[in-house]
Amino acid sequence: MSGLLDGKVALITGAARGVGKAIAARYAREGAHVVIDDVDDAAGNATADAIAAEVGSIRYMHADVSRDDEVAALVASTEAAFGPIDILVNNALPPIRHVLNNDWDPLINVCLKGPWLLMQAVLPSMIERRGGSIINISSVNGLAGFGAEHVYSAAKAGLIGMSRSMATRYGTRGIRINVICPGTIVTEAWTPMLERDPAIHDRLVGLYPIGRLGRPDDIAGAALYLAGPDAGFTTGSVMVVDGGVTAGYTAYTIWDEE
Ligand SMILES: NC(=O)c1ccc[n+]([C@@H]2O[C@H](COP(=O)([O-])OP(=O)(O)OC[C@H]3O[C@@H](n4cnc5c(N)ncnc54)[C@H](O)[C@@H]3O)[C@@H](O)[C@H]2O)c1
Repeated sequence: MSGLLDGKVALITGAARGVGKAIAARYAREGAHVVIDDVDDAAGNATADAIAAEVGSIRYMHADVSRDDEVAALVASTEAAFGPIDILVNNALPPIRHVLNNDWDPLINVCLKGPWLLMQAVLPSMIERRGGSIINISSVNGLAGFGAEHVYSAAKAGLIGMSRSMATRYGTRGIRINVICPGTIVTEAWTPMLERDPAIHDRLVGLYPIGRLGRPDDIAGAALYLAGPDAGFTTGSVMVVDGGVTAGYTAYTIWDEE
């Protein structure tokens, strides 16, 4: 069976659950050798085992993306297991309480410094082989304001700026660097908010022109396109996958033809 990513080596951070897990499963099904990074070893191992039972070549490795020693060890272990890294997805998110509390260090360290460290670690080999695709998971919060998540927004906007800047530098060396900005995606990250306010998702749906919230697989599809052969001319792009929430306002119409 041939897949879009046959034989490619992909490293995905924060992939024990949620969006990262969906990307890992999609890449593995398309023939990639996948390394799932996370700091939750129990969930990371369980996810790798579940995907391996279905499609094969996948492993869990522990690394805190904000620590340069652990990032260096992660990249070395990935290369030792599968060979040089072709695809990097920076996806890790610290516990959601840090987003809600505007905790500077955890948010900047995991959402901005982490991707920087990972990119620095994989770029030399990508440059040598003149090929690689890096996908940074930002957020609609990096594009606009949605409440009081100021530091999260800063980290995610910073990730967009850094990605576009690096895309201009490394394009001629065969490396593509792109960003995905998801809207609300229903993952475990939302559990504490749902416990506090069980109706929060029902209210949010009303803001989404598409009429539903996102699923991890919605982002996996975008991440597959950006990693795969059809995206050869796509770099420095900011792909908004948000059910239309940043396109405009659906709740108010002055003239409704229907
Ligand atoms: N869920 C949404 O509504 C939403 C919306 C927009 C953007 N995003 C982005 O999508 C990405 C994934 O979000 P999610 O909802 O799947 O999150 P999640 O909380 O379900 O998963 C994040 C994973 O990152 C891991 N992690 C935490 N700190 C880490 C560290 N230091 N090093 C390595 N791994 C670490 C966690 O253990 C967890 O498994 C994030 O970048 C997030 O900002 C999510």
